[in-house]
Amino acid sequence: ETPAEKELRSPILCILGHVDTGKTSLLDKIRSTNVQGGEARGITQQIGASFVPVETIKEQTKGINEKLKVNFRLPGLLLIDTPGHESFNNLRSRGSGLCDLAILVIDIVHGIEKQTVESINLLRMRKTPFVVALNKVDRVYEWQKYVNLSMNEELKLQNRHTAQDFESRTNKIIAQLAEHELNAALYWRNSDYKKVVSLVPTSAVTGEGLGDLMLVVVQLMQKIMSEKVTYRNTLECTILEVKAIEGLGTTVDAVLVNGVLNEGDKIVVSGFGGPIVTTIRSLLTPPPLRETRVKTALIPNKSIRASMGVKIVAPGLEKAVAGTSLYVVGEDDDLEELKREAQKD
Ligand code: GTP
Ligand code: MG
Ligand code: NA
Repeated sequence: ETPAEKELRSPILCILGHVDTGKTSLLDKIRSTNVQGGEARGITQQIGASFVPVETIKEQTKGINEKLKVNFRLPGLLLIDTPGHESFNNLRSRGSGLCDLAILVIDIVHGIEKQTVESINLLRMRKTPFVVALNKVDRVYEWQKYVNLSMNEELKLQNRHTAQDFESRTNKIIAQLAEHELNAALYWRNSDYKKVVSLVPTSAVTGEGLGDLMLVVVQLMQKIMSEKVTYRNTLECTILEVKAIEGLGTTVDAVLVNGVLNEGDKIVVSGFGGPIVTTIRSLLTPPPLRETRVKTALIPNKSIRASMGVKIVAPGLEKAVAGTSLYVVGEDDDLEELKREAQKD
């Protein structure tokens, strides 16, 4: 089988970084939503998954892809937002453990901060590849906005002082990353995607650089990581959060990484006090470009194919443990064996 014939699933991308660097705002800009505006004091306190279909990515990259001509083989991207506040280390850890690739967001004006370093250490520990969004580029001295240009082209049009301010801030961040043993370069100067971390200047306010960011991610996944995101039938599903929802009872928000889940499937999940065996009552997904954590009308599905974020409704989930794997009991499976397996997580 040639690589071109393999079916790719949507890569799972986790957005990590220090508090208020603009993680949720970047996602909002990509999706044209306003999740950030609905958060208490603008602070993210949960993990949220949302699916961005490839059509949206094509639209967002239209201006700059005319020259680059990237062919899209991916069905979309599954984006997982995480909080930057220091008290949510567990959620960052869970998100970074699950994803194929991370987007580490750094405020270009602030440079590396405490949770930037914590995120780098999490990613390194799990050997998760990542790219850096140098966000808030609109705050560089006298920055001029241009539309439909790549950031490389935009920089050539900025006045001399702006270009200098940009270069000095970027070089400072490259030096800070080097202190943490990371080689980094602006993505258009990066000739070794495997060893050097790409920096993509972005603005979640103006939308500049978002097309660049998506093209960098898509190319990385399709060129270097296609094996990892090749669709597999073997079920791989991780519970992100356990939540009581009015009218639904206790539900779990999960990320289906590989395989298929069906309404009516018998499942086993790890529970405080012992394994939980139950049956899926419904599989709810947010509409494309919406999030599992936001109260939009969720859509019921008979069946879900990876990768996707899904809210699972089933009786008896009150003591389910977030961060653990979910198993489906197949016809030939030994239930006791699966219960032991689930409880190992
Ligand atoms: P936590 O989830 O709480 O860690 O924060 P976050 O990283 O999701 O940042 P958030 O999206 O909440 O943005 C923080 C603040 O920065 C908000 O006031 C945003 O409007 C602002 N902001 C985000 N991105 C940009 C940007 O590109 N440029 C400018 N000028 N402001 C930005
Ligand atoms: Mg946020
Ligand atoms: Na915030």
